Parts: sequence; C-alpha cells; structure tokens
Amino acid sequence: MNILPKPFRIELGEGAFAYSADMKVAAELPVILSLFGGGDPSSPIRFVKGDTEWDHVLKVSPEGVLALSSTDEGLFHAAVTLKQLTGGKSTAIPACTIWDKPRYTYRAGMIDVCRHFFGVETIKKLIDTMAMFKFSHLHFHLSDDQGFRLCIDSMPKLHQIGSERKGTCGDGRPTGGYYTKAQIAEIVSYAAERYIEIVPEIDMPGHTRAIVAAYPELSCSGKPTEVASWFGIHSKILCVGKERVYEAVDRIFSEVAEMFPSELFHLGGDEVAKLEWAKCPDCAALYRKEGMKNLEELQAYFTNRVIKLLEKYGKTPILWNEALNSEMLDKRAAVQYWTTDKKSAERVARAISEEGRKVIMSRCAPYYLDYPCGTHSLKAMYELEPDEELGASAEKGIMGVECPLWTEQISEEEELFRHFYPRALAVAETGWSAPGKDYEDFKKRLQGVLFLLEERGVPYIPVKECDPARFAAWRQKVSFALRMQRVSDPMSARNWQSMRLKEPKV
Ligand code: ACM
Ligand code: ZN
Repeated sequence: MNILPKPFRIELGEGAFAYSADMKVAAELPVILSLFGGGDPSSPIRFVKGDTEWDHVLKVSPEGVLALSSTDEGLFHAAVTLKQLTGGKSTAIPACTIWDKPRYTYRAGMIDVCRHFFGVETIKKLIDTMAMFKFSHLHFHLSDDQGFRLCIDSMPKLHQIGSERKGTCGDGRPTGGYYTKAQIAEIVSYAAERYIEIVPEIDMPGHTRAIVAAYPELSCSGKPTEVASWFGIHSKILCVGKERVYEAVDRIFSEVAEMFPSELFHLGGDEVAKLEWAKCPDCAALYRKEGMKNLEELQAYFTNRVIKLLEKYGKTPILWNEALNSEMLDKRAAVQYWTTDKKSAERVARAISEEGRKVIMSRCAPYYLDYPCGTHSLKAMYELEPDEELGASAEKGIMGVECPLWTEQISEEEELFRHFYPRALAVAETGWSAPGKDYEDFKKRLQGVLFLLEERGVPYIPVKECDPARFAAWRQKVSFALRMQRVSDPMSARNWQSMRLKEPKV
C-alpha cells in the first residue's frame, strides 16, 4: 500500500471500499475537511475522537472508513494516510486496519531564508507539503551573516539595515527581505493547523554579521560593517565581552519567544570564527576575569549566559554540535549533530550516554539537502539509521531527525523544492517509521504518493534521477564544490582557521 512514511502495522481485511473523489467526510477539523473537499455528517468516511494508545487507527472496510484517535493531531495523520491511499482519485481502497505511531517526536526539515529570502507563500507551500508526510517541525533559520529576517520592535535596525545586502557574490543587485510580525503569525498558525511547529533559529554568537551591521556597537571593534554579500565564514560577529550584547540578545529573545509558541528555540552556535575576539580588549578582559583556558570557553560562557536568558521565556535551547567543544555546555541544551568527523560523533555519543542530552540527527552527509543527489543520494538519505556511529545505547537520546536546506546556491522557489523533494521524504520516513528498511519498497511507495506534491504545484527531482551513477555523481560533486568555492568570501579560509585560535592576542 502506498503510504509514506510506512505505518507501524497493517492488517489486510476482506474486500475494498469504493472511494469516489467527490466524497466528503464526517469530521470536525477544518484542515481535514479541506483535504477531502468538505464535510458531510452522513459520509461513510468518519473521523472520530476516542480512546486509543496509538497516534491513530484507520479502519477501512467495504462499508466505510473509520479514523480513530485521542488527539486532533492523530486524526489529521489518519486523514493524511487516507489521502495517500486514494492516490488523489476515485479508487478501490483495500479493506485493512492500520495501527500507527511515530518513532520520534521530532521529524523536521530546515529552511535557510538568510542566504536567500523566500516569502510567506513559499514557506506555506513548504509547510503544506511537509504536513502531507507527517513532519512535525520546521526549523526556520532566520538570522545569518547575509540577512536578519524578523522585525524586532525594540531594535528596528535589525530589519531596516540587517535584512538588506548590496548584492550577492558580486552581482551588484541589492536584495533583501524580512517577515513582519503579522506574517510570522500567519506562518505559525498555518503550520499549527497542520500540526507542524515552527522552531526559530537566531544563530549566535557566530554568523551574526547582519546583526552587527545593524548595530556595530555589538561587535568587538564597534566599527561599521555591511551585511555580508558573500557566503562562507565571517569573523565580524557579536562581542562576548560587552554587557550591551546580552541586553540586546534578551530584547531579541523576548520578541522572538512571543512570535513563536514552540517550546524549542535554536541558538545556533556553529562555525564561530574567533579572530575578532582574540584581538578585543573586552573579550580578553572577560577571558582573564573568568580564568578561561581557551577561546572555546568564551563561546561556552556566551552560550550558557544566553541560555539563562532564554529560560525566562520557558524555552528549551537547541545548539549545533560545536557548542559541545568546550565541555561546558549547559545541561539543558539539546544538540543538533551535523558535522561528520569521528571526534564530533564520539562527543555527541558521550553527550547522550554521560550527560543525558537529547540529540537531533542531521549529519551533513547525507542529510543536507543543498548538496546534489550525486553526493547525497536518495538511497544514502534513506539508509542512514539515526543511531548509526553513535553507539548502541544512543537511541534513547535521539529526539529525532532533521534535513536542513541551506540556500547559498538556491535563489528560486523551483530550485528550493527540487532540493527538498523527494529526498526529504526519506528523512520523514526514518523519523516516523519503526526501524527496518527496504529501499525498493520505499521507492515504490514514494512513486505512489508524489501526486500530493503535483496537486500542490510543487516540483521535485524525478525518483530515477535521485541516485545518479558514478560518473554523473562525480560531475555533480565537482560542480557543487567549485560553485561553493566561487561564492565564498575570500577571507573565509582565514576565518575558518581562526576557529582554532587558542587564546587572546591582546
Ligand atoms: C551548519 O551547517 N553550519 C550548521
Ligand atoms: Zn569582543
């Protein structure tokens, strides 16, 4: 049966239900009614709230369809399954009972709207399609060197200055964009109606050049700078030795926390170039006052302080896994594992086994969707087991999976979706379905549910192109790497190096 993600258990019955595409359903939730063209209390397709320990149970018999769940979310998931079974047309649905529940509570995609900005309609289209595959969260990467995408009333220059850049990689074409608070409310409620939670990310202390372009007094030097128009790693970032930085971060938190009801709040923490910190008297003074032993501890000090600020707003922080490097990260923080080196994997495994931390599996290879199929194939994405390389006891600490989509090389909606789909659906399945994989079966079911993207006008890479043969894969890999090099700031290599700086130079 073409259901994706694969359900926990299916039992086939006798006969089939004759589904007709003009059939309405007996349900209360508007989002379910909208999936089936409206409501009819006498319909043979019924959605009923009731006791069950499953996320939902779906029973199809020749007489009708009964969806049962104790939650609205479960009923919505049942509706998605039923929609998939219809294939989008009148059809005979085999009699069956489906008992279903997710493996993980966190099943996410990520969209970077900083490197290139995408408007409300695109984000809603992404949410609408993700919901059709039982994703639970959309991680919204809202602040980076190339743009700050929210309106913070108490710091208006963040969107007035921080959301605009003079061009992109030398094209000389000014570009920008931000979401108003009303637009964020629209996105959040659109997602909530589809049982998707939006997790905002304000990446800090690195990747903050757009913030310091708007408010240079928050940087180490205090000198004016511009929103980055090249990609790569930038060293003009928040100073950690100035009190006014923590006051500003708190103001940002108070408004972002209000805009996004999710309990989760992503603080970034990746790729922190430490060049400016090493030269800054304020950072050096803090370093000495606190008796720090290396610059990683400055990052840990910053992160732990902002985690305390975030606590006031009742949020649980998530950080990219570099935040573990100092060995001092606040115990409350969950970690998103993305780097692929052995040392990080060992550290993340320890974070689970010794610190009881929650971990999101987002390993760059193969989960990063900005890479081409030639390097991150559908098969590789499908076959990754979240606890692979983290050790046998890791499963208990894994809160879920996420496939990030960075947009340095993606400026058009069509490209965005073709990177996201269908590969993200391999991750949707890993996040929902019980362990045990069969790639050929997955591909068959995948072909059967792609109509849900087509119905919504969402393009995707044809499945047969998702696992290129060796030569085509090699060409895609080389072309991606060359393009990445072409769009990176010439100072990027130096800034990368500065991540390894050990102590202040002043
Ligand atoms: C990352 O890819 N820098 C988290
Ligand atoms: Zn400083």
